[in-house]
Amino acid sequence: MKHLLSIESLSAAELHEILDLAVEMKATRGHHAEHPLRHQCWGLIFSKSSTRTRVSFEVGIRELGGDVMFLSSNDIQLGRGEPIEDTARVMGRMLHGAVIRTFAQLDVEQFAQFSGIPTINALTDEEHPCQILADLQTIREKLGSFEGKTIAFVGDGACNVPRSWIWAAIRLGFNLRIAAPESFQPDPMFIGRLGSDRIQVTASVEEAVAGADVLYTDVWVSMGRESETAYRMAQLEKYQINAALLEKAKPGALVMHCLPAYRGKEISADVFEQHAETIFTQAENRLHAQKAILSLLVRR
Ligand code: CP
Ligand code: NVA
Repeated sequence: MKHLLSIESLSAAELHEILDLAVEMKATRGHHAEHPLRHQCWGLIFSKSSTRTRVSFEVGIRELGGDVMFLSSNDIQLGRGEPIEDTARVMGRMLHGAVIRTFAQLDVEQFAQFSGIPTINALTDEEHPCQILADLQTIREKLGSFEGKTIAFVGDGACNVPRSWIWAAIRLGFNLRIAAPESFQPDPMFIGRLGSDRIQVTASVEEAVAGADVLYTDVWVSMGRESETAYRMAQLEKYQINAALLEKAKPGALVMHCLPAYRGKEISADVFEQHAETIFTQAENRLHAQKAILSLLVRR
């Protein structure tokens, strides 16, 4: 594994390797035997806002012995139109690794190619792999395993988070149901090409959550989609995770949210608070899962 660009590009063995090391990272925080990023400087190149991803990478890189530099795209020439290929070739001669949050998946892939340094996707419009790895770690902690489980994603089924969930389900052998209105469902051609009976897409939120082990949601308005806010609110109104919906899931089902959360929109305030332990464990596990990714990228 040279880069971490998507869940799609990882094998089941690689996913398990990251998750196993994430458990070890969590157990040994504060007294790691190795500091694999010693004498290294990593760059965080972000074109979108972030709380969790930025903090967890900055802390994680330092805990592994490295130094880190946060580079908002507004502050570097990338924001004034310098091509990604040129930015990458410059960074590749100075930094030891890069963590990139941006819009196009192609930009992360080109950065990896042109820089030659380990590159991590910290969210694009297409995938959010680090989030899903932390979520898988959380499900393992809370339910023992994810194999054979049913995860119901409710809300904007066409954005980055459900896309990464789809690839995780394909690779790891759990069932994924996506409940979204037609205009927010993943491309049917893409789902058809996958040819997997583990992935079900429906407009019926009740059908998706019936007996599910996990209910999962994400914001209705992803970064970069702000101009569509009114349309999205109207379309997604019926796709809220709330107490009535939760009753249809398996008793004791987990409720998960990648955060930030908008109470009264994709999740009701009471359900959010009742499941805050799980939701903030997801956030914490970003640190541990990403330290596992960083370690594996520099070990090879
Ligand atoms: N879940 C997540 O990626 O959060 P941030 O946008 O705050 O990094
Ligand atoms: N789908 C959301 C995820 C935020 C972590 C977005 O892209 O804004």
